[in-house]
Amino acid sequence: MAGEMADNVILVGFMGAGKSSVGRILAARLGRCFVETDEMITAAEGPIPEIFAEKGEAHFRALEDEAVRLLALKRCDVIATGGGLPCRDGRLEALRAIGTVVWLSGDFGPLYERALRCGDRPMLSGKTREQVEALYEARKPFYARADLAVDTTGLNPDQVAARVAAALAERQRQAV
Ligand code: S3P
Repeated sequence: MAGEMADNVILVGFMGAGKSSVGRILAARLGRCFVETDEMITAAEGPIPEIFAEKGEAHFRALEDEAVRLLALKRCDVIATGGGLPCRDGRLEALRAIGTVVWLSGDFGPLYERALRCGDRPMLSGKTREQVEALYEARKPFYARADLAVDTTGLNPDQVAARVAAALAERQRQAV
């Protein structure tokens, strides 16, 4: 299966789940390279808030499509994805074809607080808490198609990375 050959670990989840910080720690722990789809897009096109402001969300989502195509070239990396990237038909399956997909899940409240605190996120600007929660609910069924889910509620990034590493090791044991 392509996913096993490529053997990437791909983190998905809502804004504020800690995909970047957990991904960095996990990559160091596993001795792998760390890649972020948002970084791939930013390196080529500039800051995400500017992409949204100048070209709109649809353009950003097309850039995510291109990033997913490029991810197919990766082998044995830890990859953090943007919160909306897997939330299109076929995207989660495209990610599963290139590695093991791990959903960093969690209660909405802490995710929202964290997402508001860190970073400049166009998907939050001008939206009420209720609107963002509706977005979270709409996205959950996409995240739930991941191979593994790790609940981040009440944990720091080190603890989450440790749980992800343990879940990956357990999955590998079961596959043998
Ligand atoms: C987005 C999440 C962001 C970034 C972009 C859109 C989203 O990434 O990709 O602002 O639609 O949820 P994070 O999940 O790292 O905040």
